Amino acid sequence: MNMKGRSLLSLKDLSTKEIRFLLDEALDFKKNRSTYIQNQPLKGRTLGMIFQKRSTRTRVSTETAMFELGGHALFLGKDDIQLGVNESLDDTAKVLGRMVSGILARVFAHTDVEALAEHAGVPVINALSNQYHPLQGLADIMTIEEHLGKLHGVNIAWIGDGNNVCHSLMIASIKMGMNMHIATPEGYEPASTVVEYCEKHASSNQIKLSHDPIKSVDSANVVVTDTFISMGQESETQEKLRKFEGFQVNEQLVSHADREFIFLHCLPRHKEEVSDEVIYGPHSVVFDEAENRLHTVAAVLKNVL
Ligand code: CP
Ligand code: NVA
Repeated sequence: MNMKGRSLLSLKDLSTKEIRFLLDEALDFKKNRSTYIQNQPLKGRTLGMIFQKRSTRTRVSTETAMFELGGHALFLGKDDIQLGVNESLDDTAKVLGRMVSGILARVFAHTDVEALAEHAGVPVINALSNQYHPLQGLADIMTIEEHLGKLHGVNIAWIGDGNNVCHSLMIASIKMGMNMHIATPEGYEPASTVVEYCEKHASSNQIKLSHDPIKSVDSANVVVTDTFISMGQESETQEKLRKFEGFQVNEQLVSHADREFIFLHCLPRHKEEVSDEVIYGPHSVVFDEAENRLHTVAAVLKNVL
């Protein structure tokens, strides 16, 4: 499948077949990593990595994947380049696009990755915006498939904030035939534009929304949460912690899930959203999920750059 030159701003950009292809490519990278290191498919390619926010997994997985595939990754942190301070985003995109083979960007406003893609003339990969985290979505479904042996028909319980990571898993669910019951506090539901997209493209009632964590977890095969305080929301901490009371994933809550359920969290994790017993317990696959960030981003980079 030829995906050269394509941007990945949201999983909406990929068809079901393309997601399947990238998952198979990621599995191949995981199994045959040494062959990729030997063959260097991205020799001579450079990726500019813009980070306006902190990152451990996204930065390390991308930089490692670029190195192992034979390319080079340039880290462009918020204090390193002119972006937004001394130069417009559009000009930065035009300049970078004349030098690098692709751009990966972690930004606040989703419109910023859209503007980069419009002006750069090279593929742009969204490394998290306030709206989407497509690379996380790919690693999440790779992890679900590895542990449950399938995606189609899997029931996912999302507990917590309905923002970027949740949005990407919703789109992945629609495309891969999974069902998702999302329980959020009032006022923290997924964005209506994403809900509408999912309703329009769903084959049946795949996405349910409620404010009831127990109902959401009932017989779920996968229980997922995310940090309650996303990057950039630090000033809302006290208010959010109050509103998210009762949404912690703990042993009492997961007692309602399927006996063989798995627990996912994109990390970094805080105790308010998941107890130690669950995140370090026998159902948790969060470190496989983190490792799969490497394999999935390698699949994306190899195919779009
Ligand atoms: N899950 C994730 O994107 O982690 P980082 O913020 O550490 O990249
Ligand atoms: N929702 C979180 C995800 C971190 C990987 C955030 O935006 O900070």
